[in-house]
Amino acid sequence: MQEKILILDFGSQYTQLIARRVRELNIYCEIHPYNHLPDDMDTFKATILSGSPHSVRDTDAPQIDLSNIRGETPLLGVCYGAQYLAQTNGGEVLPSKIREYGRANLAKIDNSSDLMKGIEVGSQVWMSHGDTIATLPKEFNIIASTADVDVAAYKIEEEDTYAIQFHPEVYHSTDGKQLLENFLVNIVGCSQDWTPDSFVDTKVDELKTQLGDDKVILGLSGGVDSTVAAILLHKAVGKNLTCIFVDNGLLRKDEFESVLDQYKHMGLNIIGINAKQRFYDALEGESDPETKRKAIGRVFIEVFDDEANKIKGVKWLAQGTIYPDVIESVSATGGPSATIKSHHNVGGLPDFMKLKVVEPLNTLFKDEVRRVGKSLGIDAELLGRHPFPGPGLAIRILGDVTVERVRLLQEVDAIFVKGLKDDGLYDKVWQAGAIFLPVNTVGVMGDERTYENAVALRAVESTDGMTADWVHLPYEFLAKISNKIINQVKGVNRVVYDISSKPPATIEWE
Ligand code: XMP
Repeated sequence: MQEKILILDFGSQYTQLIARRVRELNIYCEIHPYNHLPDDMDTFKATILSGSPHSVRDTDAPQIDLSNIRGETPLLGVCYGAQYLAQTNGGEVLPSKIREYGRANLAKIDNSSDLMKGIEVGSQVWMSHGDTIATLPKEFNIIASTADVDVAAYKIEEEDTYAIQFHPEVYHSTDGKQLLENFLVNIVGCSQDWTPDSFVDTKVDELKTQLGDDKVILGLSGGVDSTVAAILLHKAVGKNLTCIFVDNGLLRKDEFESVLDQYKHMGLNIIGINAKQRFYDALEGESDPETKRKAIGRVFIEVFDDEANKIKGVKWLAQGTIYPDVIESVSATGGPSATIKSHHNVGGLPDFMKLKVVEPLNTLFKDEVRRVGKSLGIDAELLGRHPFPGPGLAIRILGDVTVERVRLLQEVDAIFVKGLKDDGLYDKVWQAGAIFLPVNTVGVMGDERTYENAVALRAVESTDGMTADWVHLPYEFLAKISNKIINQVKGVNRVVYDISSKPPATIEWE
């Protein structure tokens, strides 16, 4: 059985980072909210308590009964977790005289402690707390201190319970990974065998058992998640998987044909649907961004439902949902997906949504999906593709969407993206695209005055799309691309580059 570690989330902004660091050690872990413990609690080898925006001194501070965990399996408290363990066992937590945020250095270390092995005095740690542990209960022993914080780390006697005031998951804690490895490998005894290859083997076996001879349908988008999900499922159920790829007429230039071709080469049983006109009809005269999104969503469901109904005996709908979406919907604080789900009206669901749902990637972060994709032999170019929004070019055409505007924007976008690839810039950018501006500007071409469209180019750096900064693309590159666009795309006489960060701007213009 897969070894796994439990991370109990008390709402810290860093909880997902803890999970990522644990997984970087090839150890599988799951995040669960502190107030919603998993049913299979006894299958976890150890528990980590996360930090929290709350103070343990608040009357409404998160509380948890740890009696079934402490002393039974190893336990590591981080920040709030450390303070909670101290306070609930008779220690004292007080507001810090100096609020400790940012870098600090360990000034004293008990090197005989298994948790601190290989970590030396001076090691930089990341602090982020407004409270401090003033006194520890009797059987709690300090194993590390900084100049300002006496209790930077402690161990409880006679049990494998440790706690640290700083955040080992943040890169600024230079020995954070070592500390987590000390805990998980030396203390807990994890075998570090969770790799993309082992994930594929285990998941394919699981899917075979779960799905048997049942038929499955999946909507492919050309993106990384749905592609990896499709290949995994294909390995498990072969031709019983039918993929549906819808051309909504809002994809990049030639994307539908080239992606469809790639999928067929991967051996997938795939139906490509040209539904362009249905989308254009639904978008006609719509200029409000949210109305456009809703129209596209509605038509997609109609098209998908029509196709799904043609396949007889389907039992499962597969989705490329990944772990951050799952965590969000069950987070301690309640994420946005809680609201999305409340909009579902079961009585009015299209037929395919009444199918059982299988989500083979719902335990993986995005970069892990890419690694699994690589292990499955999926083309590096496909795995490295920039994210592309579901509503496609419709939200990059400001105002009304028309066939002509789509064509024009596809040309502009294709020149920009090809330019990025040719100049080795594509992989340095997280997402790039072009935006059609519904304004005409004056220009001169030859001896003639022109009055044509302006387009904007956008390229951003980001890790998750939540925040982003514009990429400082070389001026020479921008000059070359601008020239190409104006010379080659009829109807464009001006190119601008978007230099806004998110926040306060967003990545997309609509
Ligand atoms: P914003 O514009 O909100 O975009 O900064 C953040 C990320 O989300 C993508 N995006 C969407 N993706 N449907 C999608 O599937 C949408 O309606 C949508 N709107 C924005 C955007 O491309 C960026 O990666």
